[in-house]
Amino acid sequence: MKWTPALAVGDELIDSQHRAFFDEVNAVVSALHDGAPRQRVQRFLSDFIIALARHFRDEELLLVRVNYPDYDHHQAEHRALMASVSALSEILAEADTHVELLQVIRNTVTALVEHMALEDMRYRRYVSGSQAESWRDPHGQVL
Ligand SMILES: [Fe+2]
Ligand SMILES: [Fe+2]
Repeated sequence: MKWTPALAVGDELIDSQHRAFFDEVNAVVSALHDGAPRQRVQRFLSDFIIALARHFRDEELLLVRVNYPDYDHHQAEHRALMASVSALSEILAEADTHVELLQVIRNTVTALVEHMALEDMRYRRYVSGSQAESWRDPHGQVL
């Protein structure tokens, strides 16, 4: 899985977090594929959860900054995604087989990627709109 420029939202921090997201997910999945011990996968997963929580927070701050009208819906999606990612830790501790675990992780990753490809794409025009603002001179003319 790879980040592509088609997923850019136009904010440097958020785009770098989205790019890093793919590396982190790939690390978890390949650790599992390689039959890494549960604790190692668990460690990748807890790093991922921390990074994801930070990303959601930064993204929500951006949405407030650009006056995104659908903020509440977006935040609710973040909360639901966070809940299912956090649940993975428990599932990881209890899953009997790698296959079972991979399936659950795959479903969660798919939900995250879908959020990025659909919901995150809905706010990007507000981000580019707010950047255009800063190019206006005090008289409201575009420089
Ligand atoms: Fe995002
Ligand atoms: Fe988001």
